[in-house]
Amino acid sequence: MSVHIEQKRLTAPDLRARKGGLPIVALTSYHAHTAALLDRHCDLILVGDSLGMVMHGLETTIPVTLEMMILQGKAVMRGSRRALVVVDMPFGSYEASKEQAFASAARVMKETGCGAIKLEGGKRMAETIAFLAERGVPVMAHVGLTPQSVNALGGFRAQGRDPAEWAPFEEDARAVSDAGAFAVVLEALAEPLAARITANIVIPTIGIGASPACDGQILVLEDMLGLSPRVPKFVKRYADLGPAIDAAVSAYAAEVRARAFPTVDHVYGAKTKSPVKGP
Ligand code: KIV
Repeated sequence: MSVHIEQKRLTAPDLRARKGGLPIVALTSYHAHTAALLDRHCDLILVGDSLGMVMHGLETTIPVTLEMMILQGKAVMRGSRRALVVVDMPFGSYEASKEQAFASAARVMKETGCGAIKLEGGKRMAETIAFLAERGVPVMAHVGLTPQSVNALGGFRAQGRDPAEWAPFEEDARAVSDAGAFAVVLEALAEPLAARITANIVIPTIGIGASPACDGQILVLEDMLGLSPRVPKFVKRYADLGPAIDAAVSAYAAEVRARAFPTVDHVYGAKTKSPVKGP
């Protein structure tokens, strides 16, 4: 008799309760196989709209669609069992109204089975966050450098380096916390500002280019594995998989050209017929 032990998935309230506790470990994933690898180590897997740049070679996240997010969200849910899976809401799928945001979020949650969604924006999204949270949609907010606003910000650059600019970022973080977000991503914010926000709001902050004081950290998987051609200063490369992939592909190409692959180990022989018995 086999004993089936069900693996319980972490929930948004579980991670909300980690404020000030053991740091939350988060990474992005867009595929079933990488999700399975991450699941053993991460509390949260983000299906980020960075997939537009990483998977599709786009310059920004602006062209990413709800359909793209749902497709990869399903893959990540199939690959993982324990981590909370959060799916990013892409540009244009939630900003027009709180009703539009709910319709998009409901689609993402129904079609992927994910446990929460993420959206960008602080004060301006507070009413929407409250509307979603009251209707059963756990929301992770994202303030600081918000890549979907790259055209308005004038580029991907660190925010709040001048203490005279801190107030709006602090107001953004407090607004999303008061609105009922279960966590907030702080991206590319000056370190002392990120530490100060972390100390002053009641929900966990997840830093990316922010501060070691944050309640958790997140990176884009391909950036930390050394697979992205250009990475921001805040990325630490924990591996350099590019050369390993290059060596493997080069060896494969050489063996195919030399007819050294496949060998007898990689092909199917024909079934041998048993000899016909004579009279
Ligand atoms: O889309 C993404 O990968 C993100 C992370 C950088 C937080 O939003």
